[in-house]
Amino acid sequence: MPRRARVSEVLVPIERGKGVPLRIQLQRALRKAIQEGRLFPGALLPSSRVFAEELGLARGVVVDAYEQLAAEGYLISRRGSATLVAHRAATSLSAAHEPELPAEPRYDFRPGRPDHSLFPRGAWLACLRRVLATAPDAAFDYPDARGARQARAAVAGYVNRSRATAATPDRTLLCAGFAQGMRLVCEVLKTRGVRRIAVEDPGHAFESSEVRASGLELVPVPVDDRGICVDRLARLKVGAVYVTPAHQYPTGAVLSSERRASLLAWAAEQRGLIVEDDYDGEYRYDREPIGALQGLGPELVVYIGSASKILAPALRMGWILSPQTLIQDLSRAKLDADRGSAGMDQLALAEFIERGYLDRHLRRTRLIYSRRRAQLATALGMYLPECRIRGIAAGLHLTLELPPEGAAESKIIAGALRRGIHIHGMRTYQARAGSGKPALLVGYCRLPEEKIKEGAKALAAAIRAVRRPAGP
Ligand SMILES: Cc1ncc(COP(=O)(O)O)c(C=O)c1O
Repeated sequence: MPRRARVSEVLVPIERGKGVPLRIQLQRALRKAIQEGRLFPGALLPSSRVFAEELGLARGVVVDAYEQLAAEGYLISRRGSATLVAHRAATSLSAAHEPELPAEPRYDFRPGRPDHSLFPRGAWLACLRRVLATAPDAAFDYPDARGARQARAAVAGYVNRSRATAATPDRTLLCAGFAQGMRLVCEVLKTRGVRRIAVEDPGHAFESSEVRASGLELVPVPVDDRGICVDRLARLKVGAVYVTPAHQYPTGAVLSSERRASLLAWAAEQRGLIVEDDYDGEYRYDREPIGALQGLGPELVVYIGSASKILAPALRMGWILSPQTLIQDLSRAKLDADRGSAGMDQLALAEFIERGYLDRHLRRTRLIYSRRRAQLATALGMYLPECRIRGIAAGLHLTLELPPEGAAESKIIAGALRRGIHIHGMRTYQARAGSGKPALLVGYCRLPEEKIKEGAKALAAAIRAVRRPAGP
């Protein structure tokens, strides 16, 4: 029977009055203790009452932290028994072509796009100016293929803080968005003899040309309300799996804590690589975001993040957090691809992060997008009560399931387009027609609140206009 860990082993440096909520400080300290192996798999944690007393915290703060880490897969909590460190938590630190669109949509419901009018132009400009004025001459030379050190350090710090990753600057590589990151990873996998990669179905892989053109065989794995069906992997003989655990694209599911653990176990046992696409993990509206899988297994997971949703796709900025074993090959592949991403932009990003502008922008946009989502959900409930909204309150779009007796998805999309409504369907993301329920992906970030209700009403009218004729 494992003994209970003592509070002193967890080394929780709680600092009051520092502006970081106690609950967050406790979560971070526990996560770190697990990542660093100070809390080993199977270790029993002190009861929330004891822990709270010893640290002088309210018991609810400890309960909250335990719940968050259980949701992320670091801890296992069962009603009536002690909370323990999960087995796989031991980590050694040791759009498809769009149809021709009328120039100005009346209602732009395309998924996955942030509101560009919110881009923090002033702050970005200030950062660029400052970098240009102050960067040493050496910063204008060919960069390290992984990116400028200062920028890698800023990005690693940011993702560790906001996404609970275990990143280090030396294993961080800056690239041109997820698209290039994925290409580089696939290239490296191929040189290591990987031929097949499991992908979520429905999933981004079937829409993204980068994944399809990678030369790897895509092996579809179904997705349900708890994310990718991990139990299918064992039979598939794949060398890697590509997943969107924080917010499955496009269904909106979150990978459950049990499946997160099984996925890591699969990677460890089969020597497979998990490719984690954390494209919009920062945007969660119903609770705190679930930490990234990479934090639980930095040697099993290659993490790819992107600025496309949190800032703008036009920046073409992304980052790879690599296992130690892949970073050299990835750097080589990046060097061969383009000799490294634009140096001044990287330094501007570092400045943007370090000055707190990114956090501020995220706070602002999270609030705006969550209001827009709530407004859209209410309006859809009113005008399309027969359609179910799937997935969690997160990201930049919601998934609207169409009733089976309704018109075909493609007809609805084409009909909507004629009415100036731009929207995507689930079909684009499926391995084959019929591998999932017909649904629409409704992006809500680009419509101001006053137009959302109006847009939902217009969408409902477009759907009704192409309704299948009733049977005999
Ligand atoms: C699932 C998913 N991952 C990643 C991205 C971001 O890609 P990029 O960083 O290349 O713009 C997108 C953009 O649409 C996406 O839908």
